Formats: sequence, C-alpha cells, structure tokens
Amino acid sequence: MKTLLDQIGNTPLIKVEENNGSNIFAKMEGFNPGGSIKDRIALNMINNAERLGIIKKGDTLIEPTSGNTGVGLAMVGAMKGYKVKVIMPDTTSPEKIKMIKAYGGETILVESLRYRKFVIDDVRNMVRKEGNLVFLNQYENAFNPLAHFEGTAEEIIKQMKGEKIDYFVAGMGTGGTITGVGRRLRQKFPKMKIIAVQPIQGQSIEGLRSLKDGFVPPIIDFEIIDEIYDLEAEKAFQTREEIARKGILVGPSSGAAMYVSREISKENPGVNIVTVFPDRGERYL
Ligand SMILES: Cc1ncc(COP(=O)(O)O)c(C=O)c1O
Repeated sequence: MKTLLDQIGNTPLIKVEENNGSNIFAKMEGFNPGGSIKDRIALNMINNAERLGIIKKGDTLIEPTSGNTGVGLAMVGAMKGYKVKVIMPDTTSPEKIKMIKAYGGETILVESLRYRKFVIDDVRNMVRKEGNLVFLNQYENAFNPLAHFEGTAEEIIKQMKGEKIDYFVAGMGTGGTITGVGRRLRQKFPKMKIIAVQPIQGQSIEGLRSLKDGFVPPIIDFEIIDEIYDLEAEKAFQTREEIARKGILVGPSSGAAMYVSREISKENPGVNIVTVFPDRGERYL
C-alpha cells in the first residue's frame, strides 16, 4: 500500500505557451503533497540522514527557510516521527506559517532584513546552545541538489519524450534546483543554456534570494550556470497574475521563472525552454 511519501515527485510537465515559435514548458511542483518542490528535498535529506545514522525518530530538526522547506520538513517529519522547528523571515506568507503549525511544526519568525543576512553560523550557534537539535542545512546539504539530479531532472527528460531542451530556467533560493536539474540536463544536452533567476538586490520574491546579499550557498555549482538574471520583483508579480488568468495559479517565484522564459523566447525563435513552477498560488493569497 502506498503512503503519501510515495506521492512526492512525478509532477506534471505542461506546455504553458508557444511564443515566437518557441515552446515554454513548466514542471508543476505545486502537485507535490505539501504543495511545493521542497517536499522532494525534505524527503531526500531526511531519508539520507536516517540512512547515515545522523537522525533518529523523536529528534528535532531545525531549518532556516523562506517557508516551503519548512512546510516540506513539517509534513515529512509528521509522517516519519520528527519534530520540526522552522526559522523564517517575518514577511513569509501567513498561509505557509499556518501550514507548518498545522503539521505540528514550530515557527520562529525573524525580522526579514536580518533573515536575508541570516548566516548558517547563527543556526549553528543555536544548535550548540540548545542541544538536541539537528540541522540538515539545505544550503549545504548535497542531498538537496541530488533530489533534483535524480528526481526532477530525470522526470523532465522522460516527459520531453526525446525532444531536445535548449534552455533551462530556474529561480534561485538555495540553488538546489538549478544545480541539480542543470547538472543532469547538461549531461544529456551539452550545448543547452542554463539560466538562474534572482531578485534585484533589496527586492523580495518569496522563495528566491539574491547572491548579492552576501551569502552564497555552497551547494551552487556555478560551472553549469550560463547566466544569472537579476529580475525586478514587480515583473514576477505581474507575470504571475497573467498566468493565473490563463488558469495556472502559482507562486511569485513561478512568475519570475515565466518572465525570464518569455524573454528568452522573444530573442530565440524555435527553441524549447523548460522551467520550474516551484509552488501553488493558494499559499500567497
Ligand atoms: C517558492 C520557491 N521558489 C523557488 C525556490 C528556490 O529553489 P532552490 O532553493 O532549489 O533554489 C524556493 C526555495 O525556497 C521556493 O520556496
């Protein structure tokens, strides 16, 4: 008999639109049971920590996140018997905070400017002081990009049914998606371009962060990234509204990915562009 954990991954890849003779496809990660792409890494980080003997049932996991990893960890934790403490910016959508609590997780809100500069060392200090906490650290944990290398990317390759991929576009938070999917797709399509999207420094697109804020997640593989696009937040919000009017209700980081995919399609006729819509729109209403 299947459990809900078996339903993580295998999300649909849909054609969002055709533009200038180019196709834009999106991986619909909101179809995961916790409603975002982060279910994948929550499960992969927990499974591997169990396998390596780093955690045991009853332990408390602590994680800084813009919210979705918190939801994923709280959901997987609830199913597998872990307590979860989530540190989030105080600008996180109320829906995500409520979801984490509903799964039995604890939320600690940090002023958003402080969070942006929030360094891993702060959490390490908490772990040292409080004890009894396990920090899986999505920003450094190799099982974050690996979830996308083995899962998300393999699914995309199968779902494209032999069609070539010319561009992969993804927003950057931890950089797990762009690194994991990018590495695998680049192996399969060596000439393709991999484009990362981040908000203009000082602006906020929930789920994404700017490398210019000063913290560079160690898991990011810059070797495979061809370009990092600095996007005005307003463009992400507008695009998100536009695609909702076409029946696809997704979060602001999906609007960011779609905006940049459209820009690429305008300049490059006849290409296939694959992007990721990381989560559902209901959690930002
Ligand atoms: C809504 C949303 N979009 C995009 C991302 C970025 O994904 P990644 O951390 O794999 O770079 C995140 C990560 O937190 C997210 O929550």
